[in-house]
Amino acid sequence: MGSKIKSVVFIIGLLFILPNLISRNQARDVSNHSIAAFYVFGDSYVDPGNNNYIGSIAKSNFAPYGIDFVNQKATGRFSDGKLIADFLASYLGFENYVPYLDPDFTIQAKPSVGFASAGTGFDNRTAAALNVIPMSTQLEYFKEYKAKLASTIGQEEADNQTTNAVFIVHCAVNDFAITYYGPGNVVGLPDGTTIEQYEEFVLQRLQEFIQGLVDLGARRIAVSGVPLFGCWPNVITLYSSDPANALVTRTCNETLNSAGSDYNAKLQEALKTMQSSLSNQGLKLAYFDTYTPMLNILQNPANYGFDVINKGCCGTGLLEQAVLCNRLSALCSDRSKYEFFDSVHLTEAASSVIVAANIAAINSITN
Ligand SMILES: *[C@@H]1O[C@H](CO)[C@@H](O)[C@H](O)[C@H]1NC(C)=O
Ligand SMILES: *[C@@H]1O[C@H](CO)[C@@H](O)[C@H](O)[C@H]1NC(C)=O
Ligand SMILES: *[C@@H]1O[C@H](CO)[C@@H](O)[C@H](O)[C@H]1NC(C)=O
Ligand SMILES: *[C@@H]1O[C@H](CO)[C@@H](O)[C@H](O)[C@H]1NC(C)=O
Repeated sequence: MGSKIKSVVFIIGLLFILPNLISRNQARDVSNHSIAAFYVFGDSYVDPGNNNYIGSIAKSNFAPYGIDFVNQKATGRFSDGKLIADFLASYLGFENYVPYLDPDFTIQAKPSVGFASAGTGFDNRTAAALNVIPMSTQLEYFKEYKAKLASTIGQEEADNQTTNAVFIVHCAVNDFAITYYGPGNVVGLPDGTTIEQYEEFVLQRLQEFIQGLVDLGARRIAVSGVPLFGCWPNVITLYSSDPANALVTRTCNETLNSAGSDYNAKLQEALKTMQSSLSNQGLKLAYFDTYTPMLNILQNPANYGFDVINKGCCGTGLLEQAVLCNRLSALCSDRSKYEFFDSVHLTEAASSVIVAANIAAINSITN
């Protein structure tokens, strides 16, 4: 064969082989996670419906919530469809992501369980404000769950499964949005607490929580910072010092965003410190970033397919969430073009953007 023909054959060969190699590698990338279980703690960005079973007004188990979910079911997820945790569960090879408090809850062979509770925070005062499940109680529930698991599959296997499970913790934003910047005095925040002191307080509670998970056998944990909550539609409406901005201009509150970015930086440092002090136990920690993807969306919404980022899809989009976003609320015509479904919570479309931006972080604890 002439060398020209050889290289043509070679190139044509490559054209057939390459896509094959690529798609097989991609398939392997997803399927070689030997992830035994998936457990999630935190707030509404990851709560699959635990609040349906407690006496709190922080609920969303009614239309139009869930309008893009399987069977258009309002599960108690604060979204039109899937949450961040749902996308993570499917990426890791899990089929259903279920709330622990569901009376029909049973232990599955490949568990994918949410202990999260919309409205909660690391600060007990945050959970108390909305009468939702504090993080310390979520940890207790996991302890109770693990005991049940051990009685089903044996202690050794339960320990092994926990070691090979992925844990997600998405919490803290309500501490800032509700307790610190919201009606703090009402929930008993001492006068004169500075934002730096409060960030330290929240970080301390977070570290205790992570330690609690580690003590119960968790070894692969992704921990989120706070989202870009100064751009939450209800924050723009309620916290604006300028009425024209609250209703017309609708720019983000930079005080809150800058507190968020400060806290996130401190969190990343704290995670590095924890990781290195516990690496002898095989602990892998990752920082799950919700802030940067939201900032990217803000700076260039069209890149992500969004038209509207400063109000929610439900109702006026300025204020409604939970009971105020209900069957009587008007809905936007194209949910996929909105970053927010209600005035606080992401659309399925936005959750998927955030998860896509964090795949490397997730891989860093699964490999
Ligand atoms: C899958 O395994 C391969 C080979 O060990 C590794 O290079 C790759 O990073 C793994 N992918 C994931 C997503 O775990
Ligand atoms: C531990 O779990 C891994 C992954 O789930 C599994 O492959 C392995 O067989 C288990 N080992 C024992 C001793 O049960
Ligand atoms: C929060 O509440 C739990 C449960 O009552 C308690 O164990 C914990 O000490 C409290 N944390 C703080 C910082 O007060
Ligand atoms: C941002 O929110 C804070 C806290 O509520 C408030 O003090 C401040 O005036 C707001 N900033 C603007 C520009 O609206």
